[in-house]
Amino acid sequence: MAGKIKWGVIGSGGIAKRRTIPEGISQARNAELSIVFDIDEQVNAEAAEKFGAVQAASIEELLNADIDAVYVATPACLHTEQVRACAQAGKHVLCEKPLGMTTAEAEEMIELCKRAGVKLGCAFMMRFVAQHREALRLVREGKLGKPTYARAQLSCWYPPIEGAWRQDPATGGGGALIDMGGHCIDLLEMFFGKVFRVSCFINNTIHDYKSEDSAVVMLFFENGAMGTVDTFFCIPDNSSKNVLELYGSKGSILANGTIGQGPAGQMKAFLEEDSEDYDAQQVRTEAHDMVIAPEAVNTYQAEIEEFSRAVIDDREPLINGELGLRSQKVLTACYESARTGMVVDIG
Ligand SMILES: NC(=O)c1ccc[n+]([C@@H]2O[C@H](COP(=O)([O-])OP(=O)(O)OC[C@H]3O[C@@H](n4cnc5c(N)ncnc54)[C@H](O)[C@@H]3O)[C@@H](O)[C@H]2O)c1
Repeated sequence: MAGKIKWGVIGSGGIAKRRTIPEGISQARNAELSIVFDIDEQVNAEAAEKFGAVQAASIEELLNADIDAVYVATPACLHTEQVRACAQAGKHVLCEKPLGMTTAEAEEMIELCKRAGVKLGCAFMMRFVAQHREALRLVREGKLGKPTYARAQLSCWYPPIEGAWRQDPATGGGGALIDMGGHCIDLLEMFFGKVFRVSCFINNTIHDYKSEDSAVVMLFFENGAMGTVDTFFCIPDNSSKNVLELYGSKGSILANGTIGQGPAGQMKAFLEEDSEDYDAQQVRTEAHDMVIAPEAVNTYQAEIEEFSRAVIDDREPLINGELGLRSQKVLTACYESARTGMVVDIG
């Protein structure tokens, strides 16, 4: 285990094949791919061949292999049983978001891993976006002043597809809100700290599948700031610029396109040296703007390297099961608010 963590992958055919294996496990300096499993044999055979891995015929075979950690990248409804199997086999496990479908499932996964003495990570990889790290540094250094308002947006076009697990809450836990809004809420909590109260609307504005295709959330943070998250499965991809906006008493940090899978987007900060005097003219100059363009980081490589390092160093992963559980708690409050029409405090 010393130098490189040996990885197995459960669910090799989706995001694992598109991103996490080629950009993450294969590129990470402290990781190597050993074995893959997918319920779709053909997809699994292709992934095994493409990435030079052993092709497992079952989860049991994968877990019996000489591996240290497992990346679970299957539909949300399978996360709990597969994390349980990994924990019982003594394997560390990085589970895709959302961490299961409910708060109870996330709690169960944390407990199972704790009892088995294995590490549990949750794949909120957008925390590793280079611009987000820099924005977080500015917020932590107080450059934004007292946080006042934040907005995060993540939308796409996702038409009805027969059997799509995200389009039925029984398999996805919900729709746009849990799938993409979860990333947005997680990011805003990274920047501004915990949310204590939410108000939320969900709807099927365009698509008539069982999960919501539209969600807007209002967030109240413990530090007094407010926020909104807007996330839709029914806006053309190119129309949503996946905006991130952070405002405070000393300025703002505004970005387009940094929320997403690839290293992309632009971010600018508009910061005052000292709090501005009241200006009746409300003059808006571009004089204070600062482009935030750190060297790009591949988020999948960063997440695999971070988790592997946590295993090697025998410490808690930075993005651990508790953050996955936290996300579920906020999302649960959002769905309750949408259902009841009430403002809901996070339990
Ligand atoms: N962080 C990100 O960038 C990101 C992006 C997309 C998806 N995700 C998450 O990754 C997970 C998977 O999403 P996806 O888009 O890859 O879904 P997908 O449907 O495209 O792929 C899931 C894969 O799991 C396989 N599978 C289904 N049942 C299985 C079983 N019982 N055992 C083994 N394999 C099984 C499928 O055959 C498929 O190859 C979800 O939790 C999703 O939220 C994360």
